[in-house]
Amino acid sequence: MPGVAGAERLLGEVEEAEAALREAAERELDGEASFDAVIAADQKIEPRDAMPDAYRAGLIRQIAQHAHSEIIGMQPEGNWISRAPSLRRKAILLAKVQDEAGHGLYLYAAAETLGVSRQELDTALLTGKQKYSSIFNYPTLSWADMGAIGWLVDGAAIVNQVPLCRCSYGPYARAMIRVCKEESFHQRQGYQSLYVLAQGTPAQRAMAQDAVDRWWYPSLAMFGPPDADSTHSAQSMAWKVKRFSNDELRQRFVDMCVPQAEILGLTLPDPDLTWNEQRGHYDYTAPDFEELMRVVKGDGPCNRQRMAHRNRAHEEGAWVREAAAAYAEKNRKAVA
Ligand code: 3HC
Repeated sequence: MPGVAGAERLLGEVEEAEAALREAAERELDGEASFDAVIAADQKIEPRDAMPDAYRAGLIRQIAQHAHSEIIGMQPEGNWISRAPSLRRKAILLAKVQDEAGHGLYLYAAAETLGVSRQELDTALLTGKQKYSSIFNYPTLSWADMGAIGWLVDGAAIVNQVPLCRCSYGPYARAMIRVCKEESFHQRQGYQSLYVLAQGTPAQRAMAQDAVDRWWYPSLAMFGPPDADSTHSAQSMAWKVKRFSNDELRQRFVDMCVPQAEILGLTLPDPDLTWNEQRGHYDYTAPDFEELMRVVKGDGPCNRQRMAHRNRAHEEGAWVREAAAAYAEKNRKAVA
């Protein structure tokens, strides 16, 4: 039965993917090799390589949505920085939120290698043309939510993103290696924070349980619609962008969380969660996929608030962008 060891194994997979990437970087690329041959040989497509338009467009869609998720994802946790219960917890939370900004930047840079500009990506987010993960449209109501997000949301992100370290597009795969290492650290701090609350006073324990109750199903929904309704999975898996289906990863996440919840002494809010000897997996209740689609389309508890905040932050940051552009221009002239 996979448990905490399961999380260790995931980190091992990141190390293996990193070694494979280094090997690939040293390999002489055959100029004649076609896109299909590179994919079939499990090598990396690089920005200089020819690629089908749909591969490029699909990657821009996914990487942009991923980058936007990291940036919008700073808001629910940023909400608690000023109210963290100790200086230590505040410093940890600040560092974590700052890491998410960094992840957004690596991912925007990876998307830019496909020929889309940062400005186009910003505009697509701010106008709602491109989406971000459903999970960040739920509110953070108590301090225990910081622990539950670290454990469940970052945990789900790791399960989903470790296979992306092996994705066929080189810049995305390389960005994911660093992201996954940091996400793993985030998950552990969330788990530790929740563990402390779960061992605390009855009120702290109840707060921890309430947070788990609210974040469990939205975390399961992060993996996307069921395989039968997933529009992009088949093509994405054929191109080795996705390595596992939405349902396979959701199951992997459930199997990992059950023993971890036992160690916490908290209950996952699913009375039908049972070990299925035959399948070698836990049976579980699926999240409400209609709710997922409603939230993706803009009707979640916090969609409007998140977008209003992001638009305001973008407007207020105009002077920083102008100053950076002026500084770059000054340096360019000095070098010329
Ligand atoms: N939230 C928002 N949209 C979602 C979604 C979710 N949880 N799950 C699926 N969707 C959207 C898809 O983007 C797609 O919409 P589109 O056609 O309009 O672009 C539609 O629903 C159908 O879903 P598919 O299964 O066909 O889509 P994919 O094959 O792209 O699979 C995915 C969805 C598994 C989310 C995949 O895109 C993926 O692995 N993306 C990279 C990881 C990512 O973006 N994670 C977001 C969270 S980041 C994070 O958690 C940060 C950390 O700090 C916590």
